[in-house]
Amino acid sequence: SSKYRRFDPVGLTDRTWPDQVLTAPPIWCSVDLRDGNQALIEPMDRERKLEMFELLVAVGFKQIEVGFPSASQTDFDFVRDLIEQDRIPEDVTIQVLTQAREPLIRRSFEALEGAPRAIVHFYNATAPVMRRVVFKMEREEVIELAVTHARMIRELADARPATDWTFQYSPEMYSGTELDFSRDIIDAVVEALGSTPDNRCIINLPSTVERSMPNVFADMIEWTGRHLQHRDSVILSVHPHNDRGTGTAAAEFAMLAGIERVEGCLFGNGERTGNVDIVNLALNLYTDGIHPGLDFSDIDAIRSRVEYCNQLPVHPRHPYVGELVYTSFSGSHQDAIKKAFAAREEGAIWEMPYLPIDPMDVGRSYEAVIRVNSQSGKGGVAYLLEREHGLDLPRRLQIEFSGVVQSVTDATGREITAAELWNIFNDEYLGE
Ligand code: KIV
Ligand code: ZN
Repeated sequence: SSKYRRFDPVGLTDRTWPDQVLTAPPIWCSVDLRDGNQALIEPMDRERKLEMFELLVAVGFKQIEVGFPSASQTDFDFVRDLIEQDRIPEDVTIQVLTQAREPLIRRSFEALEGAPRAIVHFYNATAPVMRRVVFKMEREEVIELAVTHARMIRELADARPATDWTFQYSPEMYSGTELDFSRDIIDAVVEALGSTPDNRCIINLPSTVERSMPNVFADMIEWTGRHLQHRDSVILSVHPHNDRGTGTAAAEFAMLAGIERVEGCLFGNGERTGNVDIVNLALNLYTDGIHPGLDFSDIDAIRSRVEYCNQLPVHPRHPYVGELVYTSFSGSHQDAIKKAFAAREEGAIWEMPYLPIDPMDVGRSYEAVIRVNSQSGKGGVAYLLEREHGLDLPRRLQIEFSGVVQSVTDATGREITAAELWNIFNDEYLGE
């Protein structure tokens, strides 16, 4: 049971159109330590990587892409550390990325030697611009490249039966690839990997560069899902980037289009404009009444650890997380919030104007909900006096006192604190 109810003004739930309503969270895979890390001005060192890994485990990720060990010695050593120092909890699977190139694949298997479980994630670019301009390869040659390396991965894994292997393939730039071609290459890879319904591989569809409106991306995914030859041997995954600022919407539409797994980063770190923000996605689900299976109940602690690991700030207006997102300065908002708090009953559905989520659910207090500056009105001023000093001002006094406060804030142009507000009230009425 949840104190949130999906916003459903047209009765979608009642009409049970399954493709219009999400009912469960996807499998989450964090790529903070790989895609996120490769986008940092100062990539994480061992100590920051470990801190990030432990945080991701604590948040509840069961799949974590821990690096690109064939491309970086730091990543290689980090993967070795995790395995040799037995740092991977039993319900967590680490994932490593490699290009579809023999030496890199061999090096990745070296990094993974002795892992209890692992996802080997290989990729090659499939978009026409990459085929034509970068690799100068025909379609058939690109398929051949993917298939050859899929077979190699299968053989290397078969030779190491102590590890429980999962294979993952990404047609890089899926978002810019012809649909029939991405279908053909995926079909060929799934066969080469020998995947079956009992032993599914992950097919990860990246919007390496976001190129379209989210509904178009979702239509592509739906088409792919419907036209794959071995759909039941595949876990369909999505890896949205945010170049058009619609990564979250793209992931949500992709889930409606049948995706079972989402790769992304905390607070949307990642290449260029970032990977999809898993915090945003998860808390959207949460406020729709679906528990995401990730724990963001102390969002500020998570934010400060991520800011430390990434050495990047989270924006004060970041959904659910930013410093200012639970704060109203404007008079009419404050008035509505004050009334809704007064009317609120214990255990009721969360129905609060201007606050889509209860700040308490992410470990915030109600302290910052109302702050006073020159935009504020009687509701906010009265709310603060009541909260801090138990004063229940009559309406006419509220109006009068908010005029006094406004003349101060207009003159200074600054916010005033609850303590300053009390001093003004004292000076004006109590003379203490
Ligand atoms: O964005 C992308 O295409 C990637 C792949 C390597 C999965 O990060
Ligand atoms: Zn990416």
